[in-house]
Amino acid sequence: MDKLEWDDSLNINVLDLDNKMQAFFDVLNRFFQFDSIKRKKEEDYEAILEVFADLAEYINQHFKYEEKVLREFGYPEFKQHQKEHQRFVKRMLGYRRLFSDEPDKAYNDAVKYSSQWIVAHVKDDDSRYAPFVRVQKHLNDNKVPQKRR
Ligand SMILES: [Fe+2]
Repeated sequence: MDKLEWDDSLNINVLDLDNKMQAFFDVLNRFFQFDSIKRKKEEDYEAILEVFADLAEYINQHFKYEEKVLREFGYPEFKQHQKEHQRFVKRMLGYRRLFSDEPDKAYNDAVKYSSQWIVAHVKDDDSRYAPFVRVQKHLNDNKVPQKRR
C-alpha cells in the first residue's frame, strides 16, 4: 500500500480543516505501514489492534469537529454528509470486529477501503461544502452591526 500523500489539490481552505485532514492522513499512514511487514508474529497483530484503536479515536474526533463546523454554518446537506461519515465509521468497526477471526483479511480490506474512501471523501464531499462554509464565514465575519435606535 502506497503512503497517502497530501497535495494542494486536496485543500478545501476552510478554517483549520486542511491541517486536521493531513493529521488524519498521518494516522492512516501509520495504520497502512503493517502492509509491508510479514505479519507472522503475535506482536504485529497487537500493534495493528493498537493503531486500529488510535484510528477509531481520531476518526471520531475529526468527524465530530467537522460536523460541528457544518452545523454551525447551517450547511444544507449536513445530514447527507454526516451519513457518509457514519458509513465509514460503521465499515471500519466491522473490520475491527472481523479482525479477531480473520486478521489478514480484515486488515487488508480495511486498508483498501479506508485509503480509497478518504481521498474520494475529501475530493467529492468535503470540497462540496467548502465554498458554502467559506461564504457563510465571510458573511459572519463582516456582519454590519445593528444600529441602535
Ligand atoms: Fe467530511
